[in-house]
Amino acid sequence: MAGLFISFEGGDGAGKSTQLARLAQWFREQGREVVTTREPGGTALGDQLRTLVLHGEDLDERTEALLYATDRAHHVATLVRPALARGAVVLTDRYLDSSVAYQGGGRGLTAERVEELNLWAVDGLLPELTVLLDLDPAQLPARLTGAPDRLERAGSQFHARTRAAFLERAAAHPDRIVVLDAAAPVEEIALQVRSHVERLLVRTG
Ligand code: TYD
Repeated sequence: MAGLFISFEGGDGAGKSTQLARLAQWFREQGREVVTTREPGGTALGDQLRTLVLHGEDLDERTEALLYATDRAHHVATLVRPALARGAVVLTDRYLDSSVAYQGGGRGLTAERVEELNLWAVDGLLPELTVLLDLDPAQLPARLTGAPDRLERAGSQFHARTRAAFLERAAAHPDRIVVLDAAAPVEEIALQVRSHVERLLVRTG
């Protein structure tokens, strides 16, 4: 059976991990091997990079972009590609589109440059499906819990630019990226995700 690669994207607190867990459970009920993972993180090196980039000292924007790309390169080479090669379903909480939106749009490094860097880092691997959970950043404070990390502290304009970059990217890649309203009830979103996945499974056989 061919592997399947699906990413969940969206602003902080948009409910990605809840939806990812729901979809993982559904795939497991179908008897598929499922690997759930996340960026930054997902590997031992990735967890260290995650701590550095989210909770370390202030970083120059290029350094930040390179750290996310480093995490992604290692994640893809050591975890994602091997899992896909043995036919697993890989569900990741964030992937390359996050860098394009946060470092490209949010930090202003431009989408094209950041995409190019990251496509090189992962040797061209893109998900078959990306679920973008779109949320108005104004709804953020109500949803976030715990102490904010470096990115969450970046301010409302940064988050508005990030959201716009995500939506622009979705418009440019309509075959891969589906946009769902993250403010909808969890169950409704889960049904929409599943219907997109079922369509993908029919398409890919
Ligand atoms: P994440 O753990 O998904 O945070 P949350 O659960 O709050 O959504 O991601 C951590 C932060 O890292 C988040 O603010 C987005 C940011 N990020 C980037 O800026 N670029 C990237 O490439 C990735 C993967 C994440």
